[in-house]
Amino acid sequence: MNSIKQALEEALCRGGAILKNGFEQPKSIRYKSSANLVTKTDRALELAIAKIIRKKFPHHMILGEEMGLRQAGKSPVGAQGAAQPKWIIDPIDGTTNFAHGLPLACVSIAFESEGEIKLGGVFNPLMNELFLAEKGRGATLNGKSICVSSVKTLKESLLVTGFPYGGKTKMPYYLRFFESFTFKTHGVRRLGSAAIDLCYVACGRLDGFWEFNLNVWDIAAGYLILKEAGGRLTDFHGNPINIYGKELLASNNRIHGSMLNVIRKHL
Ligand code: IPD
Ligand code: CA
Ligand code: CA
Repeated sequence: MNSIKQALEEALCRGGAILKNGFEQPKSIRYKSSANLVTKTDRALELAIAKIIRKKFPHHMILGEEMGLRQAGKSPVGAQGAAQPKWIIDPIDGTTNFAHGLPLACVSIAFESEGEIKLGGVFNPLMNELFLAEKGRGATLNGKSICVSSVKTLKESLLVTGFPYGGKTKMPYYLRFFESFTFKTHGVRRLGSAAIDLCYVACGRLDGFWEFNLNVWDIAAGYLILKEAGGRLTDFHGNPINIYGKELLASNNRIHGSMLNVIRKHL
């Protein structure tokens, strides 16, 4: 595991340098859909990370938001590769923030083996914050151990959420959850990076997070960081989370039941 950890940290560090450099330059933006942006930096960053991983682990799979699923050095492969160790990369989580010069953006990398996330790293080089976790060994922020908040009730909590890009027709539905939680808590934030949302719950800055329709690269690393920090992650019915699924409820554990009760009323 040590060589994998080293590769993860090297990739996060290299990715962070590219993100930071790109943040200071004029941005070249393309649209994947009407509000879903992508910049040259997203792709350059994913390529640089893939290169580091490929060189060290030529037989591992790489799943990245911009390039899809690949076996090192070959063309995209299908489900037959699923049993191989896999790296799951979101080169920039928070691309819209990045494109607007808002410093809430990060590189997110997870390592999956035998169907489980074993390592996760989220690095926001614009705030110099590196979150890391190893399965069974806890989570850290810049090398210091982190844990979730001790808030026990919704009325003392601060939550966060996000909205999927393609969700305009469903927006009134999503806003029902937003409205209910806003009235029952200290408030609901919308930061624009699911990976950062999960890490902020992990270190106790926020107490709970929910979102529809996330992709595995948005949450794979943050999932392990929050779990290792003592958090709970489920779907909207309280079932164990499937990180390849489309519903995510994440919390400090203590307010999880109360969050589920609010969500259930609107499903
Ligand atoms: C997005 C962010 C955002 C979430 C979106 C994601 P991107 O990822 O995580 O917080 O609300 O659903 O797609 O596009 O910045 O990598
Ligand atoms: Ca993302
Ligand atoms: Ca992204």
